[in-house]
Amino acid sequence: METPRQLKEVKDLQILLAALDSIDEAVIVINSDHKVLFYNKPAEHIFQYSKNEVIGNDISTIMSPSCAKDHKAAVKRYLELSHDIKESKHTEVVAVRKDGSPFPADISFFVTKANGEYIFTAIVKDLTVPREMEERINLYEDLAGLGRIVAEIIHELKSPLIAIGGFARQLRDHLKDEKDRYKVDIIIEEVQRLENMIKELREYHLPKQEHSFLFNLNDLMIDVVELFRERFLKNAVRFLYQIPLDPLYIHGRREKLKQVFINIIQNALEATPEGGSVSLVMERANGKVAIMVEDSGCGMETWQIQKAFKPFYTTKPKGTGLGLSLSKQILEEHKGTIEITSEKGRGSKVLVLLPLASA
Ligand SMILES: Nc1ncnc2c1ncn2[C@@H]1O[C@H](COP(=O)(O)OP(=O)(O)OP(=O)(O)O)[C@@H](O)[C@H]1O
Ligand SMILES: [Mg+2]
Repeated sequence: METPRQLKEVKDLQILLAALDSIDEAVIVINSDHKVLFYNKPAEHIFQYSKNEVIGNDISTIMSPSCAKDHKAAVKRYLELSHDIKESKHTEVVAVRKDGSPFPADISFFVTKANGEYIFTAIVKDLTVPREMEERINLYEDLAGLGRIVAEIIHELKSPLIAIGGFARQLRDHLKDEKDRYKVDIIIEEVQRLENMIKELREYHLPKQEHSFLFNLNDLMIDVVELFRERFLKNAVRFLYQIPLDPLYIHGRREKLKQVFINIIQNALEATPEGGSVSLVMERANGKVAIMVEDSGCGMETWQIQKAFKPFYTTKPKGTGLGLSLSKQILEEHKGTIEITSEKGRGSKVLVLLPLASA
């Protein structure tokens, strides 16, 4: 039978445990033999290991081997040298979840004595979300800055180019000498080339003025297939496609959506080695159109799939890492979705769903 004092202690303990489960940070307590004594609910969420897998076991269960080694050395050092030091230690590391995905973490360590033995407490904060917000703000600032510079350059170049091209044309008509005319023709051609380049720059970097309209997605897909025919041949990758005969109409920005499918097929081609294959299937699915692009390429780990949609995530030497993040954004503007399933070493499947105009 518990005394009233014991009962109160049990109640206090329950309150304390509930409080520790309600915070955002992981709280992990170990003893000097590195055995885990306490592991709260947020720790399960952050590290993806359940309490059963961790409590009573060595801390290395939830740490990468190199981290566990460093950690054990630090505990040893502490016990040997600095029993009196009360200060906490604060550090930022890259920790690893159970599924192997790395994440940025802020860790604070504390040491105290309980029941005559030293206990070490770590409070771990998952920094994934704050870091992503930071990255996004930086990206927007970069893009806004780049856009402003491009707009200024275009503005500065336009007038002189118009003048050079115009005067060159006028001069050409007065020139008698064949050689002089040839030279002026080159000036006119080069000016034209620069004007086209500016037009392209403007289309790529400045917000698109394209309006939404009704169009046949089958035709768009055939354009995309045509664009890739040569590239697949050159890479010795088989390209199979199935586009239905009955037209499927979409309401939206045609050029932007074209860019989405170019990105997805280009990724599939780049992931697939010689002798492999890529298939494109387009079909009607419950008031929507489903476009599936499947490749027999290198595939991705689960954590890579999530990263693939983040701006600037790339594993290619010359990639920008913007393809999938822009594609996702464009599809969301069209109330569509994009989903990747993949298996490392076996290939990937990208499923795009877009609402049909009639639905
Ligand atoms: N079909 C695929 N198979 C395997 N990995 C893929 C596939 N599609 C995308 N990825 C991975 O996702 C990353 C991001 O793709 P994303 O299209 O956003 O950028 P990128 O292809 O690297 O560069 P770019 O901006 O030139 O498109 C790729 O670098 C690659 O690692
Ligand atoms: Mg890409």
